[in-house]
Amino acid sequence: MALREIVQFPDPRLKEISQPVGEITEEIHQLVRDMCEAMYDEPGIGLAAPQVGEAIRLFVIDTEWSEEGGERCPQVMINPEFLHKEGKIVWEEGCLSVPDYTADVERASRVTIRAQDLDGKEIVEEAEGLRAVCLQHEFDHLEGKLFIDRISRLKRSLYVKKRKKQLAEEDEG
Ligand code: NI
Repeated sequence: MALREIVQFPDPRLKEISQPVGEITEEIHQLVRDMCEAMYDEPGIGLAAPQVGEAIRLFVIDTEWSEEGGERCPQVMINPEFLHKEGKIVWEEGCLSVPDYTADVERASRVTIRAQDLDGKEIVEEAEGLRAVCLQHEFDHLEGKLFIDRISRLKRSLYVKKRKKQLAEEDEG
């Protein structure tokens, strides 16, 4: 099966607020398999459903994996919500939907998240550092937010300009 295409900025679908997942059907299982495949292929350490054009509240993350033969252990978070956030951390973030760009973003340094797994079982996870950053970044996608919505207006407008130029060049090419 072909890889799912990653929706990229400025596609308006990235701004949608995603809907809660109801029953965890075979289609959801298949979607998660497709999302994992796309995430490892890029490679990325997280991917949210809206990034493959599905406006539903789930994402996959794997912050342990490294390209060099690391073991894959994707974690699926369905209908996630933060129970607690504390502290501050600044991390240089990137996103598969925001090509060729990274920027420092400030987030909570420790979080507690509650979600369901693919069996519908409740998961509660405490995370810090990169893992906490990644959980907040992916959660933002479900709220129609990108990391470039959390940087200064000036930096954002410079990126938007660069991206428009890039798209115009792709069109010509
Ligand atoms: Ni992202």
